[in-house]
Amino acid sequence: MSRDGGGLRTRVKTARGRTAQSTRWLERQLNDPYVKRARAEGYRSRAAYKLIELDERFGIIRGSKRVVDLGIAPGGWSQVIKRRLPKAAVVGIDLLPVDPIDGVTIFEMDFMDDAAPGKLIEALGGAPDLVLSDMAANTVGHPQTDALRTMALVETALAFAVEVLEKGGTFVSKVFAGGADQQLVAEMKRNFATVKHAKPPSSRKGSVEWFVVAQGFKGRSAE
Ligand SMILES: C[S@@+](CC[C@H](N)C(=O)[O-])C[C@H]1O[C@@H](n2cnc3c(N)ncnc32)[C@H](O)[C@@H]1O
Repeated sequence: MSRDGGGLRTRVKTARGRTAQSTRWLERQLNDPYVKRARAEGYRSRAAYKLIELDERFGIIRGSKRVVDLGIAPGGWSQVIKRRLPKAAVVGIDLLPVDPIDGVTIFEMDFMDDAAPGKLIEALGGAPDLVLSDMAANTVGHPQTDALRTMALVETALAFAVEVLEKGGTFVSKVFAGGADQQLVAEMKRNFATVKHAKPPSSRKGSVEWFVVAQGFKGRSAE
């Protein structure tokens, strides 16, 4: 690793056993202002800033009492929630293990498992007013397969939100390729007063990641 003469950018030399792709990843991590900020501010992931920025734009966190965090690992979003809302009940789920977060119940399991929704709601102790999903399927490098797998996660997260949210509640989900597909957006519009797409500044420019923010859940009678 070396510093540019006088510059601030950290360069990473390609080491034996490290692919060009992982060298690029490491270089980007080392030079990413959000990674530095996350470290300085005690967040486990740079992803925390995506939620913070979405919140600045849409005001999604304030006033929430029960929050579900789908795809919680390593825990940045739940840390943000807990810092803003120390009294809120928060549950999260991930395929990966997550180090404990004070006041957050964490399940290490597949959200697509039929038993997952019941476990989440039972642990939450009531209907959520905020359902967040930052879930992303592991990419297999085949764009159509990757898009389909991610869409299936968004679809399942939306179905869950519509089934469990309190009236007036909010659903936030990561989506790909410029947004949710038309059918999903139509389903969101049927169920929420407003549906907006956003790419927060901390979401990497080159990534196909976007977020959809659906606010003002109309309640089950709207179906
Ligand atoms: C981008 S990360 C989430 C980062 C998190 N929001 C944070 O702030 O630290 C996406 C997560 O979704 C999880 N995930 C993907 N598919 C899942 C599934 N079917 N069930 C549970 N978690 C899933 C992945 O394991 C991964 O940890």
